[in-house]
Amino acid sequence: MGYFRENIERLQGYVPGYQPGDADVVKINTNENPYPPSPKVLEAIRGFSPEFLRKYPQPLADSFREAACKVLGVGSGNIICTNGGDDLLTICFRAFCDEGRTVAYPIETYSLYEVLAELQNCKAVEIPFGNDNWIDDLVKAKSALTIICNPNAPTSTRVETDVIGELADKLSGVLLIDEAYVDFAEDNCLRLVEKYDNVIILRSMSKGYSLAGLRFGFGIANAELIAGLMKVKDSYNVDAIAIAAATAAIKDQKYFKSNVAKVKSERERLKTELEKLGLEVGKSETNFLLAKYSESGTLYEKLAERGIYVRFWNTSSLSDKLRITVGTKEDNDKLVTTLKEILS
Ligand SMILES: Cc1ncc(COP(=O)(O)O)c(C=O)c1O
Repeated sequence: MGYFRENIERLQGYVPGYQPGDADVVKINTNENPYPPSPKVLEAIRGFSPEFLRKYPQPLADSFREAACKVLGVGSGNIICTNGGDDLLTICFRAFCDEGRTVAYPIETYSLYEVLAELQNCKAVEIPFGNDNWIDDLVKAKSALTIICNPNAPTSTRVETDVIGELADKLSGVLLIDEAYVDFAEDNCLRLVEKYDNVIILRSMSKGYSLAGLRFGFGIANAELIAGLMKVKDSYNVDAIAIAAATAAIKDQKYFKSNVAKVKSERERLKTELEKLGLEVGKSETNFLLAKYSESGTLYEKLAERGIYVRFWNTSSLSDKLRITVGTKEDNDKLVTTLKEILS
């Protein structure tokens, strides 16, 4: 066509997981939480005054920042609210990367990073996770932005906070720790924000708080970094309904904790059931499992034919694996029963 910048012409674009329109399927392919959000969220939406639709929303989503500060023990100047965690990723690429300033991250990981690098026309230095020297290799890349997804997708594993702290210490640029799945993990990196002025933590309300459809995420960092990121974001990047709903969700920690506990307990049960069927399943600190099976592509198709959607990537390192979101007990039972039929 020739109208677009060259890098956009070349770009394939991010391919989101399949969203089947049919409600009658088992949808365990995009890591949504299988349980509904807190009833307080629905109350906040129902009680929402139309007056707040007429006016622009709070530019910095102050109500949410105030509530989040109490939960996290940081100041409101340490938080930037975003239109999902993905918006924070976009803001960071725009803030730190360009043709002369690279991004680095270990792979396999969230495939959006590569797409954002191409959009920003910056070089992406990809370091294999399995490599013993992955930390040194990331440091040697001397990138303006280094991203570590922790716990990582799609592997579901977590690197210890001390190791990430060591990385933050050695890096000359910014370290963005993508904690989209941290609600299901045994530890998190929040304490590194106080210690290192180059650390940004990404959090999402999509997973632990069951709000993927709402689009709300946030970043936590030292006040100077946050002030810089504020210059890059859209003026009103989170809408008024999203602010009200996300604020109600984060205030209801009791519901949040019980929701996360249910997902974690189903995760362990599903892991055991899949292993009994001969699939190799690694430890997970997320709301999904990465299951290894030699003929994963065929298995994926057979499951889809039966109305069960999991995630499959036909790439060299992932073509023998399926990523399976932890569903409700009924979803997981249906998956296991169907797998038994297919594999017998
Ligand atoms: C690793 C990772 N980071 C960030 C996100 C962004 O989440 P959201 O934009 O829904 O907050 C996702 C979504 O699945 C993800 O898998």
